[in-house]
Amino acid sequence: MSERVLVTGGAGFVGSHVVVELAAHGYKPVVLDNFANSTPAIRSRLEALAGMPVPFVRCDIRDTAALRAAFHDYPITAVVHCAGLKSVSESEARPLAYYDVNVGGTLSLVEVMGEAGVATLVFSSSASVYGDEAGAAEDAPTLPRSVHGRTRLVVEVFLRDLAAANPNWRIAILRGFNSAGAHPSGMMGEAPRGGASHLVTRLARVAAGETSELTLCGDDWDTPDGTAQRDYVHVADVAEGFHRALKHLGAHAGVATFNLGTGVPSSVLQVIAAFERACGRPIARVVGPVRRGDVAASAAQTSRSASILGWRATRDLESICADAWRWQKNGGHY
Ligand SMILES: NC(=O)c1ccc[n+]([C@@H]2O[C@H](COP(=O)([O-])OP(=O)(O)OC[C@H]3O[C@@H](n4cnc5c(N)ncnc54)[C@H](O)[C@@H]3O)[C@@H](O)[C@H]2O)c1
Repeated sequence: MSERVLVTGGAGFVGSHVVVELAAHGYKPVVLDNFANSTPAIRSRLEALAGMPVPFVRCDIRDTAALRAAFHDYPITAVVHCAGLKSVSESEARPLAYYDVNVGGTLSLVEVMGEAGVATLVFSSSASVYGDEAGAAEDAPTLPRSVHGRTRLVVEVFLRDLAAANPNWRIAILRGFNSAGAHPSGMMGEAPRGGASHLVTRLARVAAGETSELTLCGDDWDTPDGTAQRDYVHVADVAEGFHRALKHLGAHAGVATFNLGTGVPSSVLQVIAAFERACGRPIARVVGPVRRGDVAASAAQTSRSASILGWRATRDLESICADAWRWQKNGGHY
């Protein structure tokens, strides 16, 4: 019988691609989401790409009773946890909301998992736990510069404590760098409620005329061209990484931490140039202020994911931009 995997945040950007990837490998995903930053309208696309019915559970991860009901209704064997709040700048303005959802919500989730005897968890953590670190290895010091990064780190710490107390737990902590791009079919991509915070999605919206210009968040960083550098990794590669991690947990108890990035930093100006090549039109831009909590440069060390998970990102910035533009040309919304 194929495994029922609960994907929290499964209607969101990363989660939806994970659902499709898991379905392609014979799992039967169940989506759990409160649609705070997504929409249930994604379901028909998800089911078409997954090639199977995908149950949707509308539930807030902080609602422990509703989570219990979901574990009662479905024979869940593992959880991929992508639900959460992710904007660095918003986290600086609304710290309690970020601790409530990211920390409180994850506590509620692992409590219910424990009760249900489900001990396999892939957690979507973030490169923001490292702070300003280009070429960060998983055992590098964690010095998050933002509230968002600190909420992720708190969760990582308590997951390790949980596994130390009970050896049944099998936990993979995946530190995602900047997921970008879209499903190569052009049917699925990032569709946040309200304004986009990810650079590539913001570029797609400018190119499509939905917004008039891109605001650069500072151009005086200590980087070669003055704009911030990030490690952009295709969301389809990220989804493969989640599947590899879940498979790894089938044979390994305890906690393991992996970076999901390419190892290649790209500056904002380099991403703009790549997007202009993809869409064939110029992108208007203005320089705005630096966002609180932002860092100059971030990129992954990828050797552990490669050697233990056998995972490497295979798609480059050009394909990230081409796929994001295809999704945008198809509407960019559900
Ligand atoms: N996208 C990236 O580049 C990136 C990088 C590193 C880490 N991450 C982490 O991965 C996770 C997913 O990122 P994403 O880009 O898919 O974000 P997203 O906002 O597209 O998806 C998150 C999903 O969680 C849901 N959600 C939010 N609060 C919830 C709650 N209380 N209960 C149930 N569902 C809730 C949202 O509705 C959304 O569908 C985030 O936690 C983020 O911090 C993302």
